Amino acid sequence: MADPAPVPPPADARRSFLTKLMAMVGGGLATLTPVAAGVWMTLDPLRRKSSAASFLPITKLESVPDDGLPRQFPVIADRNDAWTGFAAEPIGAVYLRREQGSDTIEAVSATCPHAGCFIELDKRDRCFRCPCHNSVFTLDGGIVSPSPSPRTMDSLECEVRDGRVAVKWENYYSGIAEKVARP
Ligand code: FES
Repeated sequence: MADPAPVPPPADARRSFLTKLMAMVGGGLATLTPVAAGVWMTLDPLRRKSSAASFLPITKLESVPDDGLPRQFPVIADRNDAWTGFAAEPIGAVYLRREQGSDTIEAVSATCPHAGCFIELDKRDRCFRCPCHNSVFTLDGGIVSPSPSPRTMDSLECEVRDGRVAVKWENYYSGIAEKVARP
């Protein structure tokens, strides 16, 4: 004699099972989302990089002649983009200046505040010039009028310790009168 055909579960039982399954999936997603966000915050190189600006070693004090004429130095640091770290590469440039007999260093960024071009030193005329739109600056970074730059060259905090010069490196927004550091 043949076995009786299996009896399908009632429609209510199927609906109840589906409701429980959806609740489990939804609950799992709700738990995983904050966990994933926490992992992202921890591992994302951009987020780790966005700490406050720090002092970066630039050169020895004796490498900055005390003749009042600025000298250009690269700013070297580890750099991170969204996913990759690049060890010790140039991220900008600074001009360092020292007056005769002084151990105090003045530092200005070589990035033009007008539109971000690289500012050059004109040794003959003893001034800075930006080749992009002809802004002219004095040796201490002041504007020579008329210049399209909306502000002076960006001064940077500088520290001399144990015969080494370090600069607090920051990038500033260009094209505006205020000196505002990029995050
Ligand atoms: S970018 Fe320097 S003057 Fe325009």
